[in-house]
Parts: sequence; structure tokens; C-alpha cells
Amino acid sequence: MKVIRKISELRSELTIHRKAGSRVGLVPTMGYFHEGHLSLMDVARKDSDIVVVSLFVNPTQFGPNEDLVKYPRDFERDERLAKERGADIIFYPDSREMYPDPFLTYVITEKLSGVLCGESRPIHFRGVTTIVAKLFNIIQPDVAVFGRKDAQQAIIIKKMVADLNFPVEIIVAPIIREADGLAMSSRNTYLSSEERKQAPIIYRALQKATEMVQRGELNAGCVERSIRQQIETAPLARIEYIEIVNEKNLEPVKTIDPGTFVAVAVWFGKTRLIDNVVLIDLDR
Ligand code: PAF
Repeated sequence: MKVIRKISELRSELTIHRKAGSRVGLVPTMGYFHEGHLSLMDVARKDSDIVVVSLFVNPTQFGPNEDLVKYPRDFERDERLAKERGADIIFYPDSREMYPDPFLTYVITEKLSGVLCGESRPIHFRGVTTIVAKLFNIIQPDVAVFGRKDAQQAIIIKKMVADLNFPVEIIVAPIIREADGLAMSSRNTYLSSEERKQAPIIYRALQKATEMVQRGELNAGCVERSIRQQIETAPLARIEYIEIVNEKNLEPVKTIDPGTFVAVAVWFGKTRLIDNVVLIDLDR
């Protein structure tokens, strides 16, 4: 596995692979790998000959009071894990490489970026779409893999790809959970032991919601209330939002139908956790 820090070097390397007819897969990450990231590498591996993992803690997607500085980092461990998982290249640029000074050009997916997480994190998705567009231009992958845990991010990236005609296939891979149901996230490391103990309430509430829907409850208001009541039983939980929305446009629905999913953001102390489940599959 090669570690490449410069855009020019990465481009030369990939030109060789592309000339040899290789299909290139990209897994964009911010590092501090857990099984969720590693599962994305597996998915990319199945669909491509060369797997590039980008590792860059992207400053433009963090708001002024967010956790950019304390975001967990351990490159040596990440390098080892990616190698064990069969990645071919880690692209590990620094900020100067990705953001020439002055940096004046951003990509914005309107509407979708302003709802759900975008309400409390107004510049977040602008940073995500900008860095992902840059990675697509630099790497020109045939396929890129994102996790369903960040459902809104995946939906926004798909829309950006469609709107701007990026020639890349987007695969969204399932959420990987801890044994007690908590969705894996690099930010779980911020939780105190008591917060960690209570955090699985989020998934329990979402599971109960899917069961309600399976039993025939299609009223979004009732399902939302049930999720809220469940999560509120955890004394340390502070709900930021619970939204039952349509998969295509992220608009709230009154009646649950195929393509409806529920997305939540819940604070435990200073840690903001997100999760989501599809209530009725789109293809049903
Ligand atoms: O999901 C993430 O880790 C980041 O938002 C991404 C897609 C790597 C962009 O920085």
C-alpha cells in the first residue's frame, strides 16, 4: 500500500493504473478508522481493482465552534488498518495541498444542505460537497463508497453528482453498529462511560419505530412521538431533531410510505450523535 501526500503524485500513479485498464474505487474518510470505514473499503474492493482511501480532516466542513482541533487522529494506526484491509493507496494530503490560499470556490447543493443537520451546521455540507468534488476531480474514481450512517451526506453527494455530471457511481453502504446497536462513529470516542452506556437508546428507539411501522402505524407524528419518548428516558440525552423525511428531497412527510426514513441527532454531553433507519424500503 502506498501513502501519497501530493496531488500530482497521486495523479501520475493513477494514470498508470487507468492505462492498464484498472477500475478505481474511492473511499473518502477523515480517518480514525473503525469497522464502519473498513467495511466501506471492503465494498470498494468488490467493485474495483485499485482502492484509494482518502484521509483528510476537512476544515471547511467544521463550524467555528465545532471539534476540528480535537477530532481524533492516529495516522499510523489508520495506515496499518487500511493496509490489512487491502487498500492500495492512502491519499493523505495536508490542508495546503487541498486548499490553496486564497481558496475562493465552493460547491453548494441547495435546499438539501439547509435541513436536518444543516440547520445547526450551516456550512457543513458546503464543506463536504466542496472537498468531495475536489477528490472526484483529483482521483477521477469509477466508483465512490459512502456510509449510510451519514444519510443526508450520501443523498446530497448523489444529487451533486447528478447535477454536475460527475462520471462516478456512488455506492451507499450499510451502517455498521456496535453489539448494543450504537452506530459506529469516530466521535463515539468522546463519550464518557455513562454517556456511552445510555447512547444505545437511540437505536432502540429507531428499532421500535420500524416495528410500529411494520405493524401498520403510518402516521409520522405518532412514530416521531414514540421515538422522542423512548430517547427521553435516557437522562443524559438531549434531542436536537427527530425528522421523518422523504429519501429523495429530505422533506418531512405526514404519512410514512416507501422511501421514508427517520433521521435523528441527539446530544450526549458535548457529543452530537446521528443515526437513521429506513422505515419502508423504496423498492417495496
Ligand atoms: O463522511 C466523512 O467522513 C466526510 O464527511 C467526508 C465524506 C470524508 C468528507 O470530508
